[in-house]
Amino acid sequence: MVVTDTNGSSSLAQAFDSLTPQQMRERGSLKWSQYPGDVVGAWVAEMDLGTAPAVEAAIHQAMRHGLLGYMPPSVSQRVREETVRYQREAFGWEVEVEQVSLLPDVLSSLSAVITSHTSEGSPIIVPTPAYMPFLEIPGRHRRECIEVPSVTRPSRDGSPSWELDLDGVEAAMATGAGLLVLCNPWNPVGRVLTAAELDAVAALSSKYGVPVFSDEIHAPLVLEDGLVHLPYASRPGSDPDLTFTATAASKGWNIPGLKCAQLIASGRARRRWDADARSAHLKVEASVVGALATIAALRDGRDWLGEVRTYIRANRDLVGAALAGIEGMEPTLPEATYLAWLDCRGLGLERPARFFREEGGVAMNEGVTFGRTWSGFCRLNLATGRGIEDETLNRMRDAVRRLSGVSS
Ligand SMILES: Cc1ncc(COP(=O)(O)O)c(C=O)c1O
Repeated sequence: MVVTDTNGSSSLAQAFDSLTPQQMRERGSLKWSQYPGDVVGAWVAEMDLGTAPAVEAAIHQAMRHGLLGYMPPSVSQRVREETVRYQREAFGWEVEVEQVSLLPDVLSSLSAVITSHTSEGSPIIVPTPAYMPFLEIPGRHRRECIEVPSVTRPSRDGSPSWELDLDGVEAAMATGAGLLVLCNPWNPVGRVLTAAELDAVAALSSKYGVPVFSDEIHAPLVLEDGLVHLPYASRPGSDPDLTFTATAASKGWNIPGLKCAQLIASGRARRRWDADARSAHLKVEASVVGALATIAALRDGRDWLGEVRTYIRANRDLVGAALAGIEGMEPTLPEATYLAWLDCRGLGLERPARFFREEGGVAMNEGVTFGRTWSGFCRLNLATGRGIEDETLNRMRDAVRRLSGVSS
């Protein structure tokens, strides 16, 4: 139930509003403890907003009942059933329970898909800017990573709109690549890919026989009312034999430390996945607490998620308005996710994250870690309280004023 006061603000929103940097530092999350001193943590993809009451209750109950051991098959079965229900109700995608496997996290499933479904030496295609580990993981398995820088066009409101470079993806597939890593919704630019884009990727995948690993971990976090997340595998043109979908409750409900993700595959992709020794090992590595938290999130955590999305959307709009006033900075504001992608090249900054951390006390992620062409960009995390967001913006504005020699 959402409780609102006379100003229309919910009690949850009021609690978020009053969060302070000091409180966050005392709590000691990675986001707030990596950079010591008076630094606002706005980098790694964690939220400062806790998790849903239903998830908290499930964790407490697991502790009370001593459910801290190995994964009971009945619990993993319930996660798979809830995943099927959630995909159907939230995105209209019909999945069979047998097509869902549990894993500790999305990245271990990417590693397993690379080792079991691509031959050594076959390159992995990653459209950039990309979530940083996508660029590192292929090398760990002796695969080359082909970065395909994406393209931008001005959108109707003048801000840049990011699009996959489909010609670049096709050229990479034509070299004999073993896998395409798709990220939808897209970290760090926050795009929700359209049916036309997904269909174009599916057509290329079928033409060249290149499997697609579709990372949909941010799907619960679509911010725009009029937009819907479309699972890649739900598109009629996507080939089940060539499609893997990875998802988790970990971003939407802010529980990545609980280690429970899901891989969805059918057709030959699933048969190969099921036969792979590494995947068999991974299936028993998801945590019981994470599984119980996932069940609670998907079944009973949707009201909380709705409020959080509304709150992040307001943060996004606040940040958009404030950064639009900074000459030389061009923000891409997310349609989904809680991440904003800032083009700071107009400020003459090659390493803007370093600049804002050292000169402004705001820790963000550096653009070059998202692909070699993205120097001059940085990624800002919007999932925080309004007071902290205001403080972040003030610090960034002051740092830019000092940079341009204007006293504040
Ligand atoms: C697109 C994307 N995929 C995967 C992950 C990490 O997921 P996991 O912790 O399940 O490996 C993140 C974390 O930020 C992410 O943004």
